[in-house]
Amino acid sequence: MRILTEEIPKYVGQEVELMGWVRARRDHGKLIFIDLWDRSGIAQVVFLPKPVELAEKAGALRPEWVIKLTGIVVERPEKMRNPELKTGAVEVAVKSLEVLNQSETPPFPIDGAGYEIDEETRLKYRYLDLRRERLQKNIRARDRIISFFRDYMHRHDFVEIETPILMRGTPEGSREYVVPSRLDKGKFYVLPQSPQQFKQLAMVAGFERYFQIARCFRDEDTRGDRQPEFTQLDFEMSFVTQEDVLKYTEAMFLELVAKLYPQKKVTTTPFPRLTYAESVAKHGSDKPDLRQDKNNPDELAFAWITDFPMFEKDKEGRMTAAHHPFCSIKEADMDKFMKGEDLYAIRANSYDLVLNGYELSSGSIRIHQAEVQARVFELLGISAEEQQRRFGHMLTAFKYGTPPHGGFAPGIDRTVMLLQNEPNIREVIAFAKTGEGRDPMMGAPAEIDDKQLRELGLKFEKK
Ligand code: AMO
Repeated sequence: MRILTEEIPKYVGQEVELMGWVRARRDHGKLIFIDLWDRSGIAQVVFLPKPVELAEKAGALRPEWVIKLTGIVVERPEKMRNPELKTGAVEVAVKSLEVLNQSETPPFPIDGAGYEIDEETRLKYRYLDLRRERLQKNIRARDRIISFFRDYMHRHDFVEIETPILMRGTPEGSREYVVPSRLDKGKFYVLPQSPQQFKQLAMVAGFERYFQIARCFRDEDTRGDRQPEFTQLDFEMSFVTQEDVLKYTEAMFLELVAKLYPQKKVTTTPFPRLTYAESVAKHGSDKPDLRQDKNNPDELAFAWITDFPMFEKDKEGRMTAAHHPFCSIKEADMDKFMKGEDLYAIRANSYDLVLNGYELSSGSIRIHQAEVQARVFELLGISAEEQQRRFGHMLTAFKYGTPPHGGFAPGIDRTVMLLQNEPNIREVIAFAKTGEGRDPMMGAPAEIDDKQLRELGLKFEKK
């Protein structure tokens, strides 16, 4: 029966069977030492000069070969112990060895942190890159964080609902990825920038508390904290105020840190709150870094930024929704809103959670009345006819007993990146894309063949 390398200290004096990868081989005179790696960690195994046949087999082992062995667990001499290894007080004296598979020499070393290796190469051979300890830790930490969030949501009576990936255009500011329809030629689905409209419709549907570990897609220029596809802890609640959403979220993040990162210290609790105007005036930014010591990897400075403007100018100087057009308007600014005056001064019931200078999440209390929603579209210059065409489903749904509601959507990738002290989100996404949005491993994006194009009714202009 196979056991994991981390279990060997429990088996001193007994025979065990191990399976895993050769991480390193060291020849010391007549002894051959192998660092054997499996999902639980590393153990040292040792081959004696005899039997010769076994020693010769060991001498042929190379890094990343996959092996199965049996041997006796023995305590290491005092001087030979390795306190840095969980299994460092013992080793396995090998009795039999079977090579399950060989490996070519990896294109880069796997035993270090790997920051210095060209990223294109790391992503091309991501399955090898992921074998390094740092990435194993990041991906496993990500899983623990996601399970914490799921559990927290379920404990608070939220229901996870999967929303469509193939949908109609969303108005959330970024460019969308489009998917041609084969059955309805000339028409296109788009991929969701977020489940925003569906989660609001889930409130119309009476679920009251929705969440989803939601994949989102945005065709935008990538940066260290952005990928074309990423994951949100998306949630929405009915019959709540802004205060309810902030309190719920704050308690959740504090419990996350206390349970999974007890060594980390939150700078200020309750999290400081600044309005957008205060933050910009005081810190010159709507995502201020409020850490006391920016060199302390264990400091977490959360902050709430509230009262964002409802409207802003886009690059072409046109007015757009600063966050998205579903945010409700602050009561004090309702008059200006109805009169259509001083539009850029109108504030929304919207809020961000900031952590160490990064925007972790955005959300708002939404509009739940059809006339108010139509007024926002009108101010954005969307004609009544276009409103019906693009957002008819929202405007109609709002006529059927929509409860007041609001929500939030913390970015999972950014959360994991900051908690794991990584410099960019690619380090916490298993199969990440490059800074230019390519997948060098699979070679995506890629051309499709003429037959597929014909089926889709698509024709390309030659470049
Ligand atoms: P927003 O667009 O602000 O809000 O996104 C919320 C959070 O998602 C994360 N995020 C990203 N992470 C990685 N790569 C990206 N390209 C990327 N874009 C966004 C960030 C961000 O704070 N539907 C609204 C939420 C709501 O109103 O409830 C929304 O998507 O952490």
